[in-house]
Amino acid sequence: MNIPTIRSVIRRNLLFVFLIALFAGGGGFYLLLEHAAMDDAEEQARILLSSAMAIRGYTDTHILPNLTAQPDSAFHEETVPSFAAQTVFRSVSAGDNAYTYREAALNPTAPTDRAGPFEVDLIRQFRGDAALQETRGTIDQGGQRLFYLARPIRINDAKCIICHDTPARAPKAMLAKYGPNNGFGWKFHEIVGVQLLTVPVTQQFRSTLQLVAILMGGLALIFAIAYFALSASMEAAVVGPLGALADAAEQASRSTAGAPALPQDGAREIRTLAEAIQRLRVSLAKALAQLSQPGGDTDGR
Ligand code: HEC
Repeated sequence: MNIPTIRSVIRRNLLFVFLIALFAGGGGFYLLLEHAAMDDAEEQARILLSSAMAIRGYTDTHILPNLTAQPDSAFHEETVPSFAAQTVFRSVSAGDNAYTYREAALNPTAPTDRAGPFEVDLIRQFRGDAALQETRGTIDQGGQRLFYLARPIRINDAKCIICHDTPARAPKAMLAKYGPNNGFGWKFHEIVGVQLLTVPVTQQFRSTLQLVAILMGGLALIFAIAYFALSASMEAAVVGPLGALADAAEQASRSTAGAPALPQDGAREIRTLAEAIQRLRVSLAKALAQLSQPGGDTDGR
């Protein structure tokens, strides 16, 4: 059997503890930062989505009713809630703010609003679970990491049906502009599309990784210093002296005469041990000497 030395036991345990601490520390820190970054992104997304809802609502209640009062001659897309919200958000996302807002439908009026694969998945998810009011998460798109907040678009208002039911019912001017083929046949209470707001989080994700890397580097450095300091002091105070003592005691136990004195260095406990063994040897030698003298051990007879 291979019995491990103190040195290897200490080294193995130290390394084990350090590695666990390093990865648990790094992983925990990562989760914490990631959670904070996502909370932050979600808060931004909620504020932005409520402004999109506000624009939709405003168009719906204050602008759209005027449409019915207008002759059919011209179609003003400014009266369309979806157009208003998406147009305003295009200017919000211009420049450095890479926020995006989309209203994507499976069968859209405007071809640019056709749902992409990810949006189709979201719409299916909302259709499959009528109680689901919102989903959120992160996606990687074009090398960017995005936080998204998505809500179903359900036709809950009879006003919507005016333009999205049949081409015959829709305003003529709208048909002239968008054609009779898309964006019709939507049903009351049906989920026709998805509102999708995204907040870029690539930078936050990178800084999280950087911070975690710095933390892990720092921990590794502290661990390395602690490891060398601990093993050097253990070596000087315990492992080395104990090894020498063990060798000397082994030698002494094999030869009765002329064995060298036991080494007396290392930590206090080891010196005490060496002294005790030394005393044992001396008294053993005395006892043996008395035994070998004739009549030496007769106890006063
Ligand atoms: C006046 C006619 C009209 C009314 C009323 C109307 N829409 Fe639309 N809707 C349109 C037009 C036109 C577009 C395309 C706008 C564009 O060019 O982006 C559109 C776009 C949309 C879109 C984006 C996907 C697509 O088809 O391009 C959604 C979703 C949508 N409407 C839902 C609704 C809902 C919900 C209501 C009721 C609150 C509503 N619409 C009321 C005409 C209308």
